[in-house]
Amino acid sequence: MAKTSPRRSTSPASVVAVFPGSFDPLTNGHVDIIDRSVTIFGRVVVGVLNNPSKNALFSDQERVDLIKRQVSRYKGRVSVVSFSGLLVDFVKSVNSRVVIRGLRAISDFDYEAQMALINRKLSPDVETFFLAAREENSYISSTVVKQVALLGGDVSDMVPPVVERALKEKWRAKQSVSRRGVR
Ligand code: PNS
Repeated sequence: MAKTSPRRSTSPASVVAVFPGSFDPLTNGHVDIIDRSVTIFGRVVVGVLNNPSKNALFSDQERVDLIKRQVSRYKGRVSVVSFSGLLVDFVKSVNSRVVIRGLRAISDFDYEAQMALINRKLSPDVETFFLAAREENSYISSTVVKQVALLGGDVSDMVPPVVERALKEKWRAKQSVSRRGVR
């Protein structure tokens, strides 16, 4: 049998972890995953996917800026970086091998497990850690938040205040465009 030497273990506090996503926009669910990741890992890099083909409400820069404003309280332990291309390449580019994803429900699991397996196939060193969402956030998604906010609904329990204000601006802009269209 081939001899395998045990891998050196690393203390989580010295690990850089990547929390990737579209964040269109950041929700309380994302904020909770960031908050809890910071208590485990030394540094967290929030990787904001820059995907021009996806029909995003917020531009790449807007999404990055909103998250930066939210995480400024961590005084440098959380950074926000936009990326394109393969996640595993981005993870390596920031000297990490840890990906964090939140799981809301069993229905998330199929997609998330597939992504974790593909990423491992592409880069066997990269490990995916799943954090279970808090119950109060389990119904929240960026898609639902956008739908409600753009119809003028209250999303104050679903997103941080900085995102709520930005959504209100998008809603006002949409209202004035549709008013101009009626005239
Ligand atoms: O917030 P999302 O949209 O669920 O995040 C998905 C994300 C950005 C993590 C995923 O689409 C991704 O990693 N995209 C980068 C391209 C890539 O590496 N694809 C192969 C793994 S599916």
